[in-house]
Amino acid sequence: MIIFTNDNNPNVLKLVIVSKVKQHSYTVKNVAPKDSSDKLPFLKLPCGTKIDSVSAAIQYLWSNENQEIDIFVNQWLEWDSTQLQPTLIAFGSSGSYDNSHKPKVWSLLNNLNLRLSSNKFLVENDLTTADVSIWVTLWMTVAATDIINKIQTEFNYIEEWMKNMEQLSIVQETLNEFKIERGFKSLLSMNAVSWFPVNSYNYEKTRKLTNNEENQSNASKEKELEIITPQEIESIKKQWDSPTPLSMIQPPHTVLPKKGERNILITSALPYVNNVPHLGNIIGCVLSADIFARYCRQKNYNTLYISGTDEYGTATEAKAFQEKMTPKEICDKYFDIHNDIYRWFNIGFDYFGRTTTTEQTEIVQNMFLKIKSEGYILTDSIDQLFCESCQKFLADRFVEGLCPRCKYPDARGDQCDGCGHLVNATELINPRCKICSKTPIIRSSTQFFLDLPKIESKLRNWASEVKKGWSSVARSVAKPWLRDGLKPRCITRDLKWGIPVPLENYRNKVFYVWFDAPLGYISITKKYTDQYEQWWKPENDVNVNLYQFMAKDNVPFHAIMFPATLLAANQNHVLVKHIMATEYLNYEDTKFSKSRGTGVFGNDAKETNIPADVWRFYLAYIRPETQDSNFNWLDLATKVNSELLNTFGNFVNRALVFLENNFASQIPEIKLRDEDVNLLALIQRELTQYNASMEEAKMRDALRHILTISKLGNQYMQSQQPWVQIKGNDNDKQNAKTVIGLSCNLVCLLSSLIAPFMPNISRNLRSQLGIDASTYGYIPEKVSILLSSGHKVGKPSPLFTKIDEKQVEQLRIKYSGQQQNEIDQKSESCPEHDISSLESLIMKQGNIVRELKKKEPKTVWQPQVKILLDLKEKLSNLQKKK
Ligand code: MF3
Ligand code: ZN
Repeated sequence: MIIFTNDNNPNVLKLVIVSKVKQHSYTVKNVAPKDSSDKLPFLKLPCGTKIDSVSAAIQYLWSNENQEIDIFVNQWLEWDSTQLQPTLIAFGSSGSYDNSHKPKVWSLLNNLNLRLSSNKFLVENDLTTADVSIWVTLWMTVAATDIINKIQTEFNYIEEWMKNMEQLSIVQETLNEFKIERGFKSLLSMNAVSWFPVNSYNYEKTRKLTNNEENQSNASKEKELEIITPQEIESIKKQWDSPTPLSMIQPPHTVLPKKGERNILITSALPYVNNVPHLGNIIGCVLSADIFARYCRQKNYNTLYISGTDEYGTATEAKAFQEKMTPKEICDKYFDIHNDIYRWFNIGFDYFGRTTTTEQTEIVQNMFLKIKSEGYILTDSIDQLFCESCQKFLADRFVEGLCPRCKYPDARGDQCDGCGHLVNATELINPRCKICSKTPIIRSSTQFFLDLPKIESKLRNWASEVKKGWSSVARSVAKPWLRDGLKPRCITRDLKWGIPVPLENYRNKVFYVWFDAPLGYISITKKYTDQYEQWWKPENDVNVNLYQFMAKDNVPFHAIMFPATLLAANQNHVLVKHIMATEYLNYEDTKFSKSRGTGVFGNDAKETNIPADVWRFYLAYIRPETQDSNFNWLDLATKVNSELLNTFGNFVNRALVFLENNFASQIPEIKLRDEDVNLLALIQRELTQYNASMEEAKMRDALRHILTISKLGNQYMQSQQPWVQIKGNDNDKQNAKTVIGLSCNLVCLLSSLIAPFMPNISRNLRSQLGIDASTYGYIPEKVSILLSSGHKVGKPSPLFTKIDEKQVEQLRIKYSGQQQNEIDQKSESCPEHDISSLESLIMKQGNIVRELKKKEPKTVWQPQVKILLDLKEKLSNLQKKK
């Protein structure tokens, strides 16, 4: 294959990079364009055919088998060649940048950024030609510092994606080979041979820069003024005082789904009852779901939020053994603990139930019988690990050993924390009983299996339809399952604590906790209302959207096992549409650990004197939405002091205090001027994005938009100086009125937007605003007047208190696990032994890593490196203790 191109044309890189990725052999020939109708670069195939559309050529080179993906890729390629490139060429190919094209550039980048905010790559989560093509265009042509700055400050997702792309070794290699000059020269080169009619491309000049702005840019103001389109201005003027926005409807006593309405069923993974949840558990499940549920209620969706404790399973039995109580007593004790913690955090469940109820037993047993009658239950005699010294069958989580897949040394019998693989306990290498550390033997007994292979095609069809609504973590965890094929899965156990199998001869067996627990969602709904089937098996034309929140380790059960169970029952159950999975939250760069006393647990939070709302804020702020994140005390103080206190709180307080002092707490008359409309247009953008983020449960992003609104508000006050204007002539005085009237309206908007995150703060703020504080207010789509002139507000008072660094330093020490050292040393029978066994594990793991690094890509060895580092850390902690 031959690639023809002209000098310094960056589009050649697209062809070369793709050829390299796909390992085609090719040569590149440089030619001079004869005339402007010459299309370069083009690809000449061995048969002589010329493909002179770059997009078509790279698609040809890539030749995807997956047609569905092709469509999306094509869309982006077209976007590159008909929008991005023409715009950039128009912007800079004259050899200087023409500012009138900037709004269009920003808006294109904004699209791209939005796309990348939910995806690692442009299409699905894998590299495609779309990434190569658009990246080359951007990277080669964007050398203007103000675009680069803009990307760095505002389009963080683009920035990250660009960095990732740039780091690909093929890309690096190609850039080195071609040494194409970025910026104007590239643009000119493309302009000389482009395959789209640049000159006739019709740009709408959006808004002429005013003299004022020109001066500013001359004075090289560090922050460039946002350019607002005439359409945006138009809309603001129309919407500002037109129909009053809706108000929030108080949900009825029992919420039921309704035909033709948006019905949202929300669950958070049922926390294991035997543990006190830590901050990571809380943000991963119940708090995320709560923020989302509150948002939905403020949108007047019929919203039901269900959760409860997951009470069966061997973990409970173990805890009971440890605390010398019966399992039931343990459940009762810890149920109360969970309940108190969530109440303290203001988690607004519609019902918080538990799985040890008669409703649960009935639903689980019936479900099993139904699935069996549908032919989806198999029996098999299986080998189980039996510990002779403890005289019992070992539940999965009571055996540990080497993961057969990734060789992680402490894989549990149910799941490996190293690679996320669900292992079969008997496959563990060198298994050991977790209670007595002896090696268990294998004994066989008959168990029931869910015939996953039989249901697989149904499951796959369903998943391909709905997985677009899953968070990216959820998709990537579920993918290998659906790809690699499913095996029958054992759903019963020889244990006592569980729901008995309802068949003669098998009464001594119980259901595996992961079979019963998800059905808890249904049985807990039944506790809430006997109409529960309206939610779980709605009649024909009622549409229920199920959103399930969980941490990433729960995904296989919610994406595969539970849906498979429901599909097998063949009763038209509602299946999950949106799996909202989070990554893990670390604590001060290590893991939370109850036994080491490291980290803040639910019951600790209230002892810190930090209000629940502030906890909610910070946890949402660091929500591990797309990657693991880290809780850090100093960061907490900084975020609270800067974002909440100095930005949000300051804006609110300034506006309200000014109103109180100068206008007797009454909203003055607002007469919108250009600058006010401009501000509102910017606020509108944030509001739109807030709504979009919340709809997708991207709370971390949504929170950023709230903070931006208050930032804009602060800047506005600062630049308008109502405290000066109020002393001026009538005109100035009116300006001051408008500025304050408008600001108070923004405060009112903020009081609703913040409510899902900080319900108490919202109420407090709403009572300061003199509005109904028994509701949090409807969350509107459009910015419009909420407090009209004459409305009297209440007494302003600060919303937040400063957190000082000394205070958090003490808390950091308190929860760092140091104080636990002594206890640890007693309980860990023989640290010496641990050190030497750790050392040998580290050696083995080191070998694994070195081997993998030789031949496998980073994605494979990276998790292994992490394991190695964890082991090393464990070792150094142990050594420190000695
Ligand atoms: N108890 C499990 C955990 O904490 C979650 C159970 S979710 C359910 O990881 F779907 F099974 F209920
Ligand atoms: Zn593993």
